[in-house]
Amino acid sequence: MSLTIVILAAGKGTRMKSSKPKVMHRLAGKPLLQHVIDTAKQLSPENLVVVCGNGGNEVVPYVQHQSIETVMQVEQKGTAHAVEQAKASFANSDEVLVLYGDVPLISAETLQDLIGCGDHNSLKVLTAILDDPTGYGRIVRDYDDNMLSIVEHKDADEETLLINEINTGIMCIPGKWLAEALSHIDNNNSQGEYYLPDLIAMAVAQGISINSVTCEDEMEVAGVNNRVQLAELESYYQQKRATALMMAGVTFCDPARIDIRGQLEAGQDISVDINVIFEGDNKIADNVSIGANCIIINSILHEGAEILPNSIVENAEVGAHCSVGPFARLRPGTKLAAKAKVGNFVEIKNANIGLGSKINHLSYIGDTDMGADVNIGAGTITCNYDGANKHRTVIGDRVFVGSDTQLVAPVTVEDGATIGAGSTIRKTAPADALTLTKSEQRTVKGWQRPVKKK
Ligand code: UD1
Ligand code: CA
Repeated sequence: MSLTIVILAAGKGTRMKSSKPKVMHRLAGKPLLQHVIDTAKQLSPENLVVVCGNGGNEVVPYVQHQSIETVMQVEQKGTAHAVEQAKASFANSDEVLVLYGDVPLISAETLQDLIGCGDHNSLKVLTAILDDPTGYGRIVRDYDDNMLSIVEHKDADEETLLINEINTGIMCIPGKWLAEALSHIDNNNSQGEYYLPDLIAMAVAQGISINSVTCEDEMEVAGVNNRVQLAELESYYQQKRATALMMAGVTFCDPARIDIRGQLEAGQDISVDINVIFEGDNKIADNVSIGANCIIINSILHEGAEILPNSIVENAEVGAHCSVGPFARLRPGTKLAAKAKVGNFVEIKNANIGLGSKINHLSYIGDTDMGADVNIGAGTITCNYDGANKHRTVIGDRVFVGSDTQLVAPVTVEDGATIGAGSTIRKTAPADALTLTKSEQRTVKGWQRPVKKK
């Protein structure tokens, strides 16, 4: 059994009012088309082809970059004409599954049901029952419920318009038959287009059996035509993900106020406050808590870590029982060992912070290897950039750095060293000793404050 999946993505998307092709608009952080591609791949088709047209200069390279075949439909003459462009790719396939690039939430399970609802010599149609079927092609059946044809809204008479079973557009079609049948479809209809759904009447006439599956979840087959529909699908999708996570043991203060854009692997007893955004691949262990307004990107949060409000964690690893924030920024390459503490207005980049070390206030630590039980005073800066190159700062265990210190890299602060407040450290600070770089305090007696001239 060989399967080709054809994704139609040539349409204009006029109602998006956008210079960007419709299928490149994002849902949950990734293009609509990517959702369909990812679902298609779950079915392991032999061939996968995307029919491009409008916005092809953007869509074609995007698709080809993933080593997926594209064909161009230069003029959009209808869905049958679009599928025909992919003929060379499916002519030898047993079955062809047609998907739409602007119907992003179709699930692999529903598609499996469709493929499985009849043998590979039958035509299989995914339908839905809608309260308001306006605009859709209607499924016309005989009294025995056999499908006879699909009539487009614009071509339908009053009686047909009353039908509320609609064509979702998603069909599975015998490949060789399709290749032949497409050349017999005409454009004698109100829109002057070549309609793929005309295959139904053709199959009936030729005695080819037709099967259908009715999709229970309207949102799975909902298309995006404008930004209002895009927003509706986004919130539906987010709600669905939040529900699954809550069922798996995650507490959301308000499941309507979080966004998940990517993969989220979550343990139990995690609590997430409002307005948290998860992007990319995140792994979050048991008992983690995340405060309001945090953004977590491609990161690992270990058991019991606490991210306080308004923090950004990107490409970072936060050890067990660490505390981060409020208002902290962990940039790529940050690795906090267990029980480390990063406080407010602290930025860390490309640095290893050892067990239980604390950087509590107003600091920048970049390109640094820091040992365990270190205390970094407020306002400490690693000067890691000389204007041309980045250099590392090495800080041993049990180091105490006084406030407002600059560590000019490359530089080493050895185990147990203490740095006096306000120092500028340019050379190795030796172990277990106090290093000071500022002059001693002196007092000028009789000194007068300047007075304002009259
Ligand atoms: C189509 C179906 C209709 C169905 C509805 C479901 C036809 C004639 N009608 O109508 O029965 O109820 O979808 O949403 O098929 N496309 C191309 N090239 C073209 C034309 C369309 O790639 O020449 C793509 C579009 O980008 C879109 C999809 O095909 O992704 C559907 O096209 P659209 O024009 O939206 O079809 P509808 O009129 O909505
Ligand atoms: Ca449409």
